[in-house]
Amino acid sequence: MKELVTPYQVMEALATNLGKAYAKKAVKAEGTIQFHLRHEGEKIDCYVKADENELTISPGVTTNPTVALTSTLYHWLDLAAKRLNPIIGVISGKLKFKGDTSFFARILPDDIFNIDISPYADPVTAFEKNPHRHWTPPKNVFVINASPRTREGYTDFFVKAFLKGLESEGARVQTCYLSEQKINRCTGCWHCWLSGTGECIFKEKDDFEKVYAGCQDADLIVFAFPLYCDGVPGALKDFFDRAIAHSHPFMIEGIYKTRHPRRITKPQAAVVFSVCGFIEMENFQAVREHLRKISHNAHLPIVAEIFRSGAIYLHKNPLLYQKLNEVLLALEKAGEDVAKRGKVSRKNLRIITQKIDKASNFQKMSNYFWNEKIQSGENDY
Ligand SMILES: Cc1cc2nc3c(=O)[nH]c(=O)nc-3n(C[C@H](O)[C@H](O)[C@H](O)COP(=O)(O)O)c2cc1C
Repeated sequence: MKELVTPYQVMEALATNLGKAYAKKAVKAEGTIQFHLRHEGEKIDCYVKADENELTISPGVTTNPTVALTSTLYHWLDLAAKRLNPIIGVISGKLKFKGDTSFFARILPDDIFNIDISPYADPVTAFEKNPHRHWTPPKNVFVINASPRTREGYTDFFVKAFLKGLESEGARVQTCYLSEQKINRCTGCWHCWLSGTGECIFKEKDDFEKVYAGCQDADLIVFAFPLYCDGVPGALKDFFDRAIAHSHPFMIEGIYKTRHPRRITKPQAAVVFSVCGFIEMENFQAVREHLRKISHNAHLPIVAEIFRSGAIYLHKNPLLYQKLNEVLLALEKAGEDVAKRGKVSRKNLRIITQKIDKASNFQKMSNYFWNEKIQSGENDY
């Protein structure tokens, strides 16, 4: 269990960082900084000593320090993090110095945090910002079908219509049924990052790299999945978690927030495709947002979000046969749209996502359906 951090431990951690930078300094100033810090009614006295060899911290008060600082712990941290200008700090009475304040500058490095990460530069590309404008028809499409019901699922049934459209435009489509693969869950050990290799502890122990290689070879990746508890099925989440190994640990600016550079920087796009049981399209709200975040972090622009609610109802209810055929045809056309232009036309999207029935009808007929199943003992759907 993680323990609470004490103010003195904070000071120790700062001194450790400073000590590392001090050891690298060509000219090492000698002297002592005495801190008289207040925090939540407590007094924390400690001093940092630099002796030309190393920089150490000790609790208590020393005699004749080079400089002494009296302040609250938070004001000192604000100063150390450059959130508080020292002159403003003195004028406002937040910081009180006694002695040679230039000593701070002589032992503090300019910027110990300025690491050169240019070898890992992976800036936002024009393609990622606007894939539709820079679109070339995909040659290789890799589908990750995350339905545990694989070929028997409604996900497969509906996505096949979309894939048919892609294929008709010359794309080579390969489907990976995630549930047929062994993908261990990320343990959060960070071996992939700490080792600097990107290699997971499960490398060669499961199928993750094989599936990931399929993604890497593709121009377009289709994530097809049934909605599970307003999100993606566990197997797909496990896949996303493991894919973090394929990014570097460093932090860079993304399109609208911080993210990591990738280890392989190839322009690729994604399609998010999902079906669900409930009838309302709002059911996809959370997963839509989730996948958008994942796609941003993966530098993988989404060119189409295709969602179909009430999937079982649409397939099973004979009264909806016309709508089912409309949806299937529009899905096929959506596949052609994506292949040709990198986006689905509004018209096709409208047909795919059309309202298929009143919620009250859906509830009544679904209840009848499930009751029949329970009564008859049939276990397929
Ligand atoms: C564990 C589980 C969780 C589900 N959660 C939702 C949900 O949150 N919202 C919804 O509308 N449907 C939900 N469903 C229904 C599935 O999305 C729906 O049955 C879908 O058509 C299944 O696709 P498949 O046949 O490819 O597996 C859930 C199904 C299961 C088995």
